[in-house]
Amino acid sequence: MNATSNIITLPGDGIGPEIMDAAKRLIGELGGIDWHDHDIGGVAIDNHGTALPDTTLEAAKTSDAVLLSAVGGPKWDSTNPDDPRPEQGLLGIRKELDLFANLRPVKPVPALYGSSPLREERITGTDLLVIRELTGGIYFGEKKRENGVASDVCSYSEVEIERIARVAFKSARAKVTSVDKANVLESSRLWREVVTRVHADEFADIPLDHLLVDNAAMQLVAAPSEFDVILTENMFGDILSDEAAMITGSIGMLPSASLGGDGPGLFEPVHGSAPDIAGSGKANPLAMFLSVAMMLRHGLGREADAARVESAVDSVLAGGLRTADLGGDAGTAEVVDAVIAAL
Ligand code: IPM
Ligand code: MG
Repeated sequence: MNATSNIITLPGDGIGPEIMDAAKRLIGELGGIDWHDHDIGGVAIDNHGTALPDTTLEAAKTSDAVLLSAVGGPKWDSTNPDDPRPEQGLLGIRKELDLFANLRPVKPVPALYGSSPLREERITGTDLLVIRELTGGIYFGEKKRENGVASDVCSYSEVEIERIARVAFKSARAKVTSVDKANVLESSRLWREVVTRVHADEFADIPLDHLLVDNAAMQLVAAPSEFDVILTENMFGDILSDEAAMITGSIGMLPSASLGGDGPGLFEPVHGSAPDIAGSGKANPLAMFLSVAMMLRHGLGREADAARVESAVDSVLAGGLRTADLGGDAGTAEVVDAVIAAL
């Protein structure tokens, strides 16, 4: 066993605390990990007046990894640009830790083929990885509202594109599909130019193709198994990864890792805080469990334990247990018990 790792846990809002409790049970079972809770998102706004308190950020910077559930909820919804928003906590911590590379693997488990809205023969064999640029683009450009006109600037530098392109080429097993809107957007034309250059200079042996984002959205449901690595900018990646989630049957299944900085990585399910089912004990903990697996693999160097968690999840699904999002009636606790028993 490696020395004990110190992670910070950010339960956040909605179903966040419930699935973080599930994660802690799993982590306790695996051993070798100490955790400390901190506030982020809506709960941080309530307790500290800001979605990303300094104490949370400082604790994150000195940790070995950050595990986050989800932020946001109707309580903090507002269209007033001056009100604090829960999402500022998430965007802030990504930016402050320089986590420019967001990895979202989409690999439906055979036991869930029937749970996807797509036909089984379409999704069979799908094993793709969305690599989303996470700290640039329209999310972080200047935002303005003046005299009834609002704007959000989408800008990318060559350096930002080069570094995310390298992550994509290094992750590819078969090919990289770079997704942009180069027929309309200047930032996309630079994106395509830089990806093409990095490919020619450093990774010419890996097949590369380019797709416009509207076409990519269509191909993702028409022929998802054709993709290997999808490399794309921040907002396109946000949208395409929710779409891709449905290949697995539910967004309650999709984990993610955000990496790139010199410090810790951040690991979180792709789904949100699901305020409609918060507190009901119905949340699917599996995206969180698979995020713990990504943390073990990418953040803590414990590949064997990552694989153990993933196969425990697979075997529980193969055994037929399903939460409501997958059409079943199992509660969170039942699924947690089953996964821990299968470890
Ligand atoms: C995600 C989420 C976030 C994003 C929101 C909550 C700000 O949708 O991680 O995909 O847009 O990045
Ligand atoms: Mg999203």
